[in-house]
Amino acid sequence: MADANRAPVSVLGLGMMGAALAGAYLKAGHRTTVWNRSAGKADALVEQGAVRADDVAAAVAAGDILVICVVDYDAMYTILDPVKDSLSGKVIVNLTSGVPEDARNAAKWADEIGAEYLDGYIMTVPPAVGLPQTLLFYGGSQATFEAHESTLKVLGGNSVFLGTDAGIASLYDLALLGILWSSLASALHGYALVGSEKVPAAALAPYAEAWITNVVLPSVKGAAQMVDAGQYGTAFSTTDLNAVGLVKLVEASKAQGIRPDLMIPIRDFLAKRVADGHGDEAIAGMIEVIKNPE
Ligand SMILES: NC(=O)c1ccc[n+]([C@@H]2O[C@H](COP(=O)([O-])OP(=O)(O)OC[C@H]3O[C@@H](n4cnc5c(N)ncnc54)[C@H](OP(=O)(O)O)[C@@H]3O)[C@@H](O)[C@H]2O)c1
Repeated sequence: MADANRAPVSVLGLGMMGAALAGAYLKAGHRTTVWNRSAGKADALVEQGAVRADDVAAAVAAGDILVICVVDYDAMYTILDPVKDSLSGKVIVNLTSGVPEDARNAAKWADEIGAEYLDGYIMTVPPAVGLPQTLLFYGGSQATFEAHESTLKVLGGNSVFLGTDAGIASLYDLALLGILWSSLASALHGYALVGSEKVPAAALAPYAEAWITNVVLPSVKGAAQMVDAGQYGTAFSTTDLNAVGLVKLVEASKAQGIRPDLMIPIRDFLAKRVADGHGDEAIAGMIEVIKNPE
């Protein structure tokens, strides 16, 4: 049952993520209007109490806040450009993934048509939408975020405004995804390495977990302090030492018959730090190589 005190929301795009977003608004008591290019995807939500919009114009008219979550920014323009004259004064919350430049261009486009714009990233999978701990990043109009914070928090209690650069949320999203992909890939390298001797991944996994908790996490936190200070002094684990370790890891991977490729750039970045005269510093200094592509 919709609560008259809650802002009416229209959700455009009812793929896996959009359907979860609409479901969260329904559950929280918002009058929720839904639209999707393939209309059948609205059926289950309409059964739960959502209002079906027969076209985009009807969805736009029904909601003060338009939440859009589609495959990419081109799809967003395909949907909203034809109705842009009716978007003045509306709040567009775009939860479609892209790159920072996509977000900045979209913010400019929204500004030109008189709409308020927030560019957001949902840092989870659809089943976790609406939970108190669920993290969403936002960039764009601070006034819009503050005015609608309680409505935005329906999608995730940990909704964070990062700044007025509309591209900032995308940057955080990509930074965290990079950490996810490289961490997982490195764990798979480890599983392949022990697997080359028929050791199951499950035998390494508990040690990997303890290693990540007790060694990797403190290193990641400590590296942030070093990076911000631009000081990489260490008393216990030098780049010299780790550069030798990476050479061994690459050679041992080859000898065990698995691909060493994932580890090769790390070996080469550390070797460059040593060659540049920073062998006695911590490996966090590798960021200087990453920041300065040749
Ligand atoms: N799923 C996740 O775990 C997750 C997590 C975080 C962020 N996201 C982001 O959320 C966004 C949506 O992802 P999803 O998982 O919901 O994808 P999905 O299930 O593949 O849904 C894609 C949506 O985009 C629509 N669409 C595609 N091309 C279109 C076009 N030309 N015109 C109009 N609508 C179009 C689809 O409509 P039809 O139904 O008509 O094809 C559908 O509603 C993506 O940017 C994704 O990166 C997803």
